[in-house]
Amino acid sequence: MTIAPASDALIAPHGGVLVDRYLGAAEADDLRRRAPSLPSVVLSEREVSDAHMIAQGAFSPIEGFMGRADYLHVVEEMRLADGLPWPLPVTLSVNEEQADALPDGAEVALRDADGALLGIIAVEERFAYDKRREAQLVYGTTDEAHPGVAGLYAQGGMLLGGPVTMLAGMPPIDPAAHAHYRRPAEVREALAERGWRTVVGFQTRNPVHRAHEYIQKTALETADGLLLHPLVGATKADDIPADVRMRCYQALLEGYYPADRVLLSVFPAFMRYAGPREAIFHAIVRKNYGCSHFIVGRDHAGVGSYYGTYDAQRIFSAFPNGELGVTPLFFENSFYCGRCGAMATSKTCPHPPEARVSLSGTQVREMLAKGQVPPDEFTRPEVAQVLIDAYRAG
Ligand code: ADX
Repeated sequence: MTIAPASDALIAPHGGVLVDRYLGAAEADDLRRRAPSLPSVVLSEREVSDAHMIAQGAFSPIEGFMGRADYLHVVEEMRLADGLPWPLPVTLSVNEEQADALPDGAEVALRDADGALLGIIAVEERFAYDKRREAQLVYGTTDEAHPGVAGLYAQGGMLLGGPVTMLAGMPPIDPAAHAHYRRPAEVREALAERGWRTVVGFQTRNPVHRAHEYIQKTALETADGLLLHPLVGATKADDIPADVRMRCYQALLEGYYPADRVLLSVFPAFMRYAGPREAIFHAIVRKNYGCSHFIVGRDHAGVGSYYGTYDAQRIFSAFPNGELGVTPLFFENSFYCGRCGAMATSKTCPHPPEARVSLSGTQVREMLAKGQVPPDEFTRPEVAQVLIDAYRAG
């Protein structure tokens, strides 16, 4: 079976146009000359990542950090002020004293924690915001043990809104992922070169296991190609580091995927762990990379027990059919069933849970730490070996 493409071109970016807000060489020189006389703000790791995501068009049609109208519409309704779907705030925070010191309409230099110049924001608005309301509506909890909520509570109390322009660069990602870094326009070129029209995007922040492989390949049976798009921006300290994951992805692709049907490229975004809202966000942003379809399995972008197993699928019904452009492909919890002798879900397997090979993340980590290879039904041996080596190396 094959999904019929909507047209003979790749899907259009969200809002129609792919944004590019990186400065050319001459403009960059000019900014470097002017920057010492401009006021500066130091960006958090999330803000540095977001600024680059904006500049490279991954967040199209967003051109800068959100002003009040966009911010409030996004938090309250999952839409920009003009009505276009957008589920997560993209904000730049400062404290009250910094905000008071900036004149309206000021150009402000954007700097990283080491003081390096990243770009500039033309500040159009400074406004106070309600962090608890944002936490409740965006993350579904005000619990500061939630990593996304903790980040929000640590922010300054005022937001600056306005368009950004950036010096050439890339979001902060693990050096091991650099070889697979491509901007959205470059991914689109690579997809077009392969002649793909229907492309299914896969987000992951974990080493690939058999359930991932199963849902990717099930989707790939109907699409022209798979964009394997692991998130390699900042993640929680206890997630597996990106360099190890990259070795896992490569081992799996080399052994088990047809090279002409898969593009491995990295997604340089910061992980927010916003569960359902982040699933919509991941889908829209992958559309900017050229994906017509996007996989949402169980507990997508979840953390702890903040979200129900399929909340990240249900939230898509908040948008009328077709409005997002990108089509979500929903998958139930997948497992290996010993009686079926195959990967399955409760939609395709009638056997009781005892027939399933199911291991918790903790069980797998314990096995790997002891140098034990988890069963083939759970993870491919080549991937397990990469993980065991990484545990041994410490
Ligand atoms: S996530 O934070 O990036 O969502 P993860 O890398 O674990 O975490 O998941 C990647 C994608 O695979 C998500 O869409 C998730 O819902 C899906 N997924 C992970 N494990 C399973 C599973 N056992 N069955 C079905 N879907 C799964």
